Amino acid sequence: MKKTVLITGASTGIGRATAQYFVQQGWNVAATMRSAHKTGAWANAPNLITPYLDVTDKASIANAIEKTTDQFGAIDVVVNNAGYGLTGPLEGISADQLEQQFQTNVFGLVAVIQMVLPIMRCQNHGTIVNISSIGGRLAFPFASAYHASKFAVEGLSESLRFELKRHNIQIKLVEPGGIKTDFITRSQRWATHPAYEPELSNTMEMTTRLNDNLPGPEAVARVVYRAACDRTDKLRYPAQPGPYLLMRQFLPDRLWRTVVGMALNTHAGA
Ligand SMILES: NC(=O)c1ccc[n+]([C@@H]2O[C@H](COP(=O)([O-])OP(=O)(O)OC[C@H]3O[C@@H](n4cnc5c(N)ncnc54)[C@H](OP(=O)(O)O)[C@@H]3O)[C@@H](O)[C@H]2O)c1
Repeated sequence: MKKTVLITGASTGIGRATAQYFVQQGWNVAATMRSAHKTGAWANAPNLITPYLDVTDKASIANAIEKTTDQFGAIDVVVNNAGYGLTGPLEGISADQLEQQFQTNVFGLVAVIQMVLPIMRCQNHGTIVNISSIGGRLAFPFASAYHASKFAVEGLSESLRFELKRHNIQIKLVEPGGIKTDFITRSQRWATHPAYEPELSNTMEMTTRLNDNLPGPEAVARVVYRAACDRTDKLRYPAQPGPYLLMRQFLPDRLWRTVVGMALNTHAGA
């Protein structure tokens, strides 16, 4: 029997590449999105629906889940992908910006999980793949809000896997490194503050420049698929992580700060 996956934030980037990959593998796919006009020709596959879902709008989550179960009869896998980065010095971040970052990256993800769990418990199986980041395991300068949200996703996922095991529901964390999507361009939100110049402008310029040479999202989609199909208890799946994850694990803190300072052309290591 065909399996069914529901993916959030499937209009662009990693979410869209993941939806396309699951379609190619013959799954039923609910590629949910808040911008339905972005689907394009690929969305005409017979085993694909594209329900509206904004993770900050609980009614839209409930509707999208209902449409998916009505159409396909089950939800075997959920991929919590919707998210964006709020970047800039903490001192320049407004309360609204911070709240919105957590509403999307953390509370939205939690709302999707809470609404899909009753279905997965009734089925007595399911897999939840949370798209975290290497930024859920390490931190770069001027991204405190984003890192806090992804560290939260890592912590809640690590705890959840214990309590969901008796219901035969698995939790997986996919941790991409830098990937060329709309993340750094259209989706990124910036906060500024004059007290953090010129380091902030250096970081912005460096981040934008590095973006041009990053790999595309297709390799991450394959890792998401592997995680979704892996029935072992493995929790973390780095995807195109680059060198930083290993460096953070094995370098002494002083050397790590030097590497970060050099990489982003800031004085982080000083
Ligand atoms: N690209 C990277 O370097 C990278 C690295 C590590 C982790 N990640 C993570 O990967 C995930 C996907 O990002 P991406 O790189 O593919 O960037 P992207 O191309 O900007 O895609 C982000 C997706 O999230 C959606 N989204 C944002 N807020 C939403 C909301 N409130 N409700 C529903 N959908 C929402 C966007 O929808 P709209 O089109 O409507 O804006 C878009 O579909 C994010 O969780 C991100 O943190 C990315």
